[in-house]
Amino acid sequence: MAFGDLRTWLATFEAAGELKRVTAEVDWDREIGTIARRSFTTKGPALLFENVKGHKNTVGRKVATALFHKRSRMAMLLGFPPDTPVRELVRHVREKNKTLIPPVVVPTGPVKENILRGKDVDLHQFPTPKWHYRDGGRYILTFAAIVTRDPDTGVLNVGVYRGMLGTRDTIPILILASQGGGQTFSKYRQRKQPMPVAAVIGYDPIMDFIAGSPMPSGVCEYDVMGGYRDEAMKLVKCETNDLLVPAGAEIVIEGFVDPDAKTFELEGSFGEYTGHNSDVPTPRPVVKVECITHRNDPILRGTQEGTLPGSFNENSMMSSIQRAAIAWNVLESQGVPGISNVHVHPVTNGTNICVAINKRYQGHPKQVACALWGSNAAAWRYKNVIVTDDDIDISDYEQIDWAIAYRVNAGKDDIVIFPGSFGSSADPSTPLEERNVAKLGAGIWNRVLIDATRTWMFDPMPEWEGRFPPTVQPSTEDEALVDARWKEYGW
Ligand SMILES: Cc1cc2nc3c(=O)[nH]c(=O)nc-3n(C[C@H](O)[C@H](O)[C@H](O)COP(=O)(O)O)c2cc1C
Repeated sequence: MAFGDLRTWLATFEAAGELKRVTAEVDWDREIGTIARRSFTTKGPALLFENVKGHKNTVGRKVATALFHKRSRMAMLLGFPPDTPVRELVRHVREKNKTLIPPVVVPTGPVKENILRGKDVDLHQFPTPKWHYRDGGRYILTFAAIVTRDPDTGVLNVGVYRGMLGTRDTIPILILASQGGGQTFSKYRQRKQPMPVAAVIGYDPIMDFIAGSPMPSGVCEYDVMGGYRDEAMKLVKCETNDLLVPAGAEIVIEGFVDPDAKTFELEGSFGEYTGHNSDVPTPRPVVKVECITHRNDPILRGTQEGTLPGSFNENSMMSSIQRAAIAWNVLESQGVPGISNVHVHPVTNGTNICVAINKRYQGHPKQVACALWGSNAAAWRYKNVIVTDDDIDISDYEQIDWAIAYRVNAGKDDIVIFPGSFGSSADPSTPLEERNVAKLGAGIWNRVLIDATRTWMFDPMPEWEGRFPPTVQPSTEDEALVDARWKEYGW
């Protein structure tokens, strides 16, 4: 599979009838965000805005958004036909997350077509949307890949952290301590040194897919991206630090983040992945911009956060594949046997996860939950774990509902609450005092396992074939008889 850059992908989507170019003038102030939300809700096209109010003659004039809130486009990005079943995509992602091809450094590339430094640095030159009426400002970093380097190991980390437009050369960002990039920032903080960063905006969306998902500690996301692309990523060195960025990126913002709280600026509020807008403006670390490099006529890639029923955004669509694949790999690496399927519905972003097992022993579902909850990937995910037998198609909520209705006995040990676990600080069901990250380091989650497998605690009834009553499904012989005579019945 040959991958390209953002422009290649927009052209591919356009050829497939999956891109809408909007040439009418639109306002960066909420209008772009509202149109993007409508595309989420209608499962509509990817969007390229070419005429943004107040940005006809600025450095940046175009905004691309809503690239992969549809599973069919996610399948295309992964090199599959649009109608590929999610299970197949999850299987592919499980393999690719483990396939590493290190990047190569090239002398230059399109991202170096323009280099802005000193007084030429002006973030207001880009058509940054204010995505939603409750947002605290214009958000320039929404699906940007933030590159940092671990000062101990030298390994590069690439993660997605949001950032709001501050002044012409500052961007307050939300880089949580639980993230790989946040742990790197903690090291710089302990050394009282500024952390060099490069924010990469707009490249092959496989970058967004990998940067927005937790990879195992110590693994460089560029190596993983190489694995997905079946070829080494071509990177160029930044102008003002030793970080490396894709040669074909649209825009790269170089700078540093000072751990000194005196430099912090207010950031927020902004939509959360939970579908709520619950944050308040908070002093956050700031990217102090020293240099911007960009392609000619650069495209600002961005996205709107927050998924609602019937309105899945890009994060939740990618999470429905990545968070299932990551969980499955965790279960495999922990030696949990009999995993038949792992499914994450886009609407929960991975907060809920369903695992179907070929049950080997009564305590098997508990083993599944323990393995997931003990992993680092559970930091923001896997709050509610539902385990079923493998006769249940867990990609179908109706089947899960049936299993919960008739295989769960809450008075026994089918509902297990694991209290006081680490978890998301953005979950609105958690009291505010248990979301105090400054005090607790992370949010506190009371996790739950719903064991919706057939219990093995019953004594087998002589007339049953197993421990659980058979269903009302007709026998195979009876079905065959009716099949054979079907036409005779007059259908
Ligand atoms: C669209 C999108 C927005 C995100 N926003 C943030 C954010 O503002 N802060 C944050 O810490 N993580 C955010 N994340 C989650 C991280 O990108 C994700 O957990 C990733 O694994 C972090 O990478 P790292 O572990 O290498 O640091 C976002 C993810 C996506 C897809």
